[in-house]
Amino acid sequence: MDQAFIDRINAQTAYEFSRTAPPDDFPKLPDLPLGRYTDQHLWELEHRHVFGRNWIFVAHASELPGAGDYRTVDVVGRPLVLVRGDDGVVRAFFNACRHRGAPVVRDECGTCRLMVCQYHSWSYDHSGQLVRVPDERDFVGLQVDERALTSVRCEAWGGLLFVNLDQDAEPLLDWLGPLTDELDELVHADLRVVTRISTTHACNWKIMAEGFLEVYHAKTIHPTTVAGVLRPAGAAISLVRNGHQRMYTPLSEAVIAAGRDSHRGLPSVDGLGSLFETHNPAYGIFPNLISPLDKVGFPILQFWPEAVDRTRLERVWLGPAAGVEPERNETWDKRLPAFEVVMEEDTKNLEPIQRSVETAAHGGIPLNYQERRIWHFHATIDRNIADVLGEDAIPAHLRVPDLLADWVD
Ligand code: FES
Ligand SMILES: [Fe+2]
Repeated sequence: MDQAFIDRINAQTAYEFSRTAPPDDFPKLPDLPLGRYTDQHLWELEHRHVFGRNWIFVAHASELPGAGDYRTVDVVGRPLVLVRGDDGVVRAFFNACRHRGAPVVRDECGTCRLMVCQYHSWSYDHSGQLVRVPDERDFVGLQVDERALTSVRCEAWGGLLFVNLDQDAEPLLDWLGPLTDELDELVHADLRVVTRISTTHACNWKIMAEGFLEVYHAKTIHPTTVAGVLRPAGAAISLVRNGHQRMYTPLSEAVIAAGRDSHRGLPSVDGLGSLFETHNPAYGIFPNLISPLDKVGFPILQFWPEAVDRTRLERVWLGPAAGVEPERNETWDKRLPAFEVVMEEDTKNLEPIQRSVETAAHGGIPLNYQERRIWHFHATIDRNIADVLGEDAIPAHLRVPDLLADWVD
C-alpha cells in the first residue's frame, strides 16, 4: 500500500466528515426495481453470465498444501475439484468422470495418488490426465489422451485461489486491478483457514450482498457491536472497475487510542500500513465476496445463490498461521462467537425484506450517496449480462443503468 493511496483515503475521510450533503455532481439515482429480487429469468441470467464469467474465490492455498491434495467446491451448481499437481500448481476441473460423469473424488477434501472414479475406476493423475481405464480392450477407438478431466481456469492471488468458468476471461490479477497493490502484503502473508461457517437464508443473493455494501445501518442494527467501533460518517468509499469496491471506515477514537490489536493476543500480519491502525478496511470483490480486513485475521464473506429466494452465507475465517492450528489460540474461541452476533444482526432483516419485495409492499428502493456501492453492484450485473446478450436481455423495467461510471476508479 503506497503513501499516495494512504493520503487519498485520509483526505477522503476528512472530506466525508465535513460534508453536509452529497457532492454536487452526485446524480439522483432512480429507485431500484423490486422485481430484480424475484425474477426467475434474471436470476438465471446472473447464474450464467455473472457467476459463469467472473473470478470466484473458492479456497485458500494452505488448504491444499501438498501434491495430490484436493478440495471439492460447488460454484453455483457446478461441481468442481481443485487439486495440487506434482509441479506445485493448483488446477481446477469439473468433478465429472469422462466416462459417464460420476464424481472422481467424493470427499470434501483429502489427498490422493490418483483421482479414481468410484463408478468404474477410470483414474486421473494430478494434472487431470486419464491414466487408467479398466477393460480398455472393450472400448472401440477410445483415445485416452483425449479424455482428460475438463479443466476450469484457476489462478491465485497470493494464497487466495479463484476459479473462472469462462476460458476466455482476462487474467485474475488484471481483473482485480488496483486491489492487487493495495492488499499485496496481506494476501501473501502466511495465513491459514481458521474455520468455515455457513447459514442459509430465504432471500435473493442480492438482498444479502446489499446488507454488506453499506454502513448506513450500523447505528440501528449493530448498536452494541459495530457502532461502538466505527465512525461511519467518515467512511471513504470508492467504486472500482469490474464491480469491485472498497470502503475504509474510520475507527472510533477509543479504539485507535487503545490500539486495534489490543485484539487479544492474536499474532498479526506486519507491514500492512497505517490505514489498518486507523480504519476498518473492507473490500468487495465482484460478484459475491466482501471482507472486512484486520491484521489479526479476518472473515471472507461469500453469498452463494441457491434459488431465486434462497442464498447461503459463508464466512471463511483466515488468520496468521502462528495463531491457528494445531494449538488454536483460545482467543479465536471468543472472537468467532462475537462475530456471529454481528452476523445475526446483519441477517435478521433478509427474509422479511424478501417477503416485502415479493409482495411489492414498498414501491422501489431509493439509495443514498452512502449506499452507492449497491448501485455499482447492480449496474455491474447488468453490464455483465448485456456484454453477452445485448442491452435488451434484461426487461426495461428491471434494468439498472451505469449511472456512476464517472465515480469508478
Ligand atoms: S463413470 Fe467414471 S469410470 Fe465410469
Ligand atoms: Fe452490518
